[in-house]
Amino acid sequence: MADFQANYFNKKPLFRKNVLPNVAEDVLSLEDMDNLLNLEVVRFPYIKVNLNGTGVPEPGYTKDIKVQGQTVSGVVDPEKLHSLYRAGGTITWASVNQIVPKVRDFTREINRAMRVRTDAVAFLTPAEKKGYPVHHDGVDLFIIQLSGSKKWRLWNIADERRGESASYSEAQLGAPVIEESLKPGDVLYLPYGTPHATEAEGEPSLHLSVMMRPRMWNDLLQESVTRILDQSKFDEYPPLSEESSEAAFQKMTELVEELSSQLRSMDIGEEWERYRESGKKLPGSSTSSVFADSHRIAQLSHATAVVRTNTPYETTQLEDGRVQVLIAGLKFAVSKELGGRLDGIAAGETTSLEKLMPGSDEERGTKMARSLVRAGIFEEAKGA
Ligand SMILES: [Fe+2]
Repeated sequence: MADFQANYFNKKPLFRKNVLPNVAEDVLSLEDMDNLLNLEVVRFPYIKVNLNGTGVPEPGYTKDIKVQGQTVSGVVDPEKLHSLYRAGGTITWASVNQIVPKVRDFTREINRAMRVRTDAVAFLTPAEKKGYPVHHDGVDLFIIQLSGSKKWRLWNIADERRGESASYSEAQLGAPVIEESLKPGDVLYLPYGTPHATEAEGEPSLHLSVMMRPRMWNDLLQESVTRILDQSKFDEYPPLSEESSEAAFQKMTELVEELSSQLRSMDIGEEWERYRESGKKLPGSSTSSVFADSHRIAQLSHATAVVRTNTPYETTQLEDGRVQVLIAGLKFAVSKELGGRLDGIAAGETTSLEKLMPGSDEERGTKMARSLVRAGIFEEAKGA
């Protein structure tokens, strides 16, 4: 990973042979594609068809169906789609990671390693189809061959990167730096702006194109600024309908000062961790398991070993002496003693409610253990 980050990421294309030996089985196979289609729930624009170089209009392969008396339009019709494929059409299946759990698990690994947004598109090309002429795309790509083979030619990125997408003439590019027939399990990396051309070979080809959208400094710093600006002191409406006034200028000067002073005193290490954390939660990689968790939480007791997460929460002193805990919209009250003990636990530390509420009965401890795990302040210790 370090070698990839230092030498290839965002710099030059890379080819790796047979690094994912069981990729079709583990990620996406032709059978999976057939099964998904046969569910008859996939809608346009997830699936698109290209025949003889032009996009087939959606009604050519969709139909309307009735679900519980309601019409659902634009549902892909397996029969129509299969006959377009037999006629030589290329099928592209966008955001397949949103639909197939195995693909999402796979793209999530890239998301977690690189902290980038990932999105997978499956390309199914019939045998002997003409490929695409030389062009580049405006995103970083991992190409994973799943089935069949496809010939790829790649050139290094031009010294000056040209916009979002562009086409090239081969004469101007010279010899490609990578020229390979991709076989199942082979992987290509193309930083954005890498000129490439493809050609189908003697058998149908299925590949997955995982697009990565790295966040720029611009995106990250905006996160920091937005977080500061979310404070209520920046909420007032300035009187823009009026001519400028001394008072308005004064207010603006104060707020600009406030913003820049908060930016200057920002804990850089903490902010960096926040970027890394938010990078794990980008769309298309969700791992929530609320249904399964709710069953597991119901089995916890006061004695279960629990680990403090690094999820922050806020506390407020209540009039009756207890402490109110506020976390991600959830609110509940705990005793003053428990509130104090919670504050003393570092992220990663293991404990149990039996230890945190000494002397209290099992029922209360168990109820509190479930509340704190449900709220995300603790999680069950691994192997507990
Ligand atoms: Fe492309």
